[in-house]
Amino acid sequence: MIFFNWENNYETGFELIDKQHKDYIIIVDQLQNSIVSHNKELFNKYSVEFLTHIHDHFVTENDLMIKHNYHGYFSHKAEHDRFYEKTKNNLANLYDKSTIEINLFFEVTYRWFRNHLDINDRKLARFLIDNNLS
Ligand SMILES: [Fe+2]
Ligand SMILES: [Fe+2]
Repeated sequence: MIFFNWENNYETGFELIDKQHKDYIIIVDQLQNSIVSHNKELFNKYSVEFLTHIHDHFVTENDLMIKHNYHGYFSHKAEHDRFYEKTKNNLANLYDKSTIEINLFFEVTYRWFRNHLDINDRKLARFLIDNNLS
């Protein structure tokens, strides 16, 4: 099982994005704990919270890209859209899946965060910081 912990090297330097990324880690950890402790009520609560969080976070980044005419907008947004749809589908019946499938879901969720951060979010944050944008 993967444990979600915030690490300082996840920071992009752009405060709003970093704050939302920290919340991502916290919510996924709560979601994982709800399954480990067999609490379906909490699982349902954190599933909704997680989907709401990623939706709002993606809107934040998408809006920043549109507002500042960011060159990488379409591919970055496409990654957001794909991950949101995939997560929404996988979350729907996750609670009743096997431990292997559950672990896989969290591994994918963690890996996506790391890869997307390194490939897309850091570039966006660099662009915003270098151009003094907010
Ligand atoms: Fe992003
Ligand atoms: Fe992000």
